[in-house]
Amino acid sequence: MGVASMAAAASTDGSMEVVDDNDKVVDGPMHYHPGLRGHPRFSVAPMMQFTDRHFRTLCRTLSSNTALYTEMVNCNAVRLSRDDVLDWNPDDEGYVVCQIGGNEPNAMAEAAAIAHERGYSEVNINCGCPSDRVEKGCFGASLMTQPELVGDIVRACVEAVRDEIPITVKCRLGTEQKMGLKADFDFERDYPKLLHFCQIVRDAGCTHIILHTRKAVLGGLSTDENRRVPMLCREAAWRLATDLPDVAITANGQFKTLSECAAALANTPEGCRPIAGVMVGRAACAHPWELLSAADESCILSDLAPPPPPAIQALRVRTRRDAIAACLSHCARELSSEYDTRHRSFFIPTPSEQRRLCTILLKPTGSLIYGRGSKKVKSGMWDGIDAWCRETKESLDPKVLAQSEEVVRLLRNRGEVPRERVDAARRHLPLCPVKAIVDQLVRAHLPIEWLDAPTD
Ligand SMILES: Cc1cc2nc3c(=O)[nH]c(=O)nc-3n(C[C@H](O)[C@H](O)[C@H](O)COP(=O)(O)O)c2cc1C
Repeated sequence: MGVASMAAAASTDGSMEVVDDNDKVVDGPMHYHPGLRGHPRFSVAPMMQFTDRHFRTLCRTLSSNTALYTEMVNCNAVRLSRDDVLDWNPDDEGYVVCQIGGNEPNAMAEAAAIAHERGYSEVNINCGCPSDRVEKGCFGASLMTQPELVGDIVRACVEAVRDEIPITVKCRLGTEQKMGLKADFDFERDYPKLLHFCQIVRDAGCTHIILHTRKAVLGGLSTDENRRVPMLCREAAWRLATDLPDVAITANGQFKTLSECAAALANTPEGCRPIAGVMVGRAACAHPWELLSAADESCILSDLAPPPPPAIQALRVRTRRDAIAACLSHCARELSSEYDTRHRSFFIPTPSEQRRLCTILLKPTGSLIYGRGSKKVKSGMWDGIDAWCRETKESLDPKVLAQSEEVVRLLRNRGEVPRERVDAARRHLPLCPVKAIVDQLVRAHLPIEWLDAPTD
């Protein structure tokens, strides 16, 4: 049936459904698009410096049914494992998509196969990042100018994972070389190119495209400006969903609240097919509780996706207090861990190393805590950790401390350190009581009713 013969009708809950000439719903909002292949309808975007394992741990305590993404990882880093970038535990994290960046089909395919082996639910190819560094390597958004190459990459990746997990693409509405009037999306001028790109990607085996609904300006705008300045055009997502009905289209860009996300899935512009999913980026970092804690209860966002395993559902908490406690337990576990996943080496918990790791581990806790009393908790937390560092350094035997610090240096420089020496370096180092420090501040400064208010 052609799009022209479809009409939108208001259903009893006010949402729009697409009906055919006989008033039969053909692809209503309560439809799970098969192209998603198990991917939940709601997702948190891949974000460098944010969506690491620690942030994902927080997200998973708030929502079992949301798809989570890794930060973008360069395919060569995956292949050569210079960073242990793919470190994660499928049993703890549920549906996680590994996003890879690169432009060489064989290298991307190899990285996709490794991600599949490690148990990721899906591999996503970054065709949307406009950063200079990425552009010089000619991947990310600049790949949109070479649709055939992206097709080759998708095809190679699909083959490498034997089509056992989805290979998906995240892209922009198009690219522009420099800032100017053309930076904004124009249907007549830009849509045919976008459609052509998506058709090639689809023909190569991709059944789900995530569309950041603005163009990318490759020269003259910073990455941050590229997320604000070019005009947002969500209509392009509905248009693509209509023109490529066999491809699941997820819309991304500027969603601020859960109800806005649900509305985008429920309310389809007249004559169009619904989009299959929505993805949220910055708002999830700024207000993870507001964005995620009620997502599982929103039937439009989550009921239609395959249910997550019981072990993942069991991780879910119902109050901010429990979410903060879960983050702090995770932090304590990581500090006591033998292994530093970021540096792919043993973790020697000298006071300085624990301080360094805390800046990464406590970021998600920080985004949970805001509003009245939060400044006192955040500054008190760092004062407490710094005071602990100072006092611990002073109280430790200087020889023990110097030996441990030397092992840290050797490991950093990728030196070979015998296991006995590692064990000796760890032996006398106390662990920072981060949980106790923050718990006390939370109790003292955050309102009880705010901490204990259940999920909306
Ligand atoms: C700090 C930051 C890092 C990002 N890193 C990535 C990335 O690694 N890969 C990617 O595809 N997009 C990345 N993005 C873009 C987001 O995935 C998303 O497309 C964009 O922020 C628009 O969504 P929003 O308006 O909901 O934030 C990043 C965005 C931010 C704010």
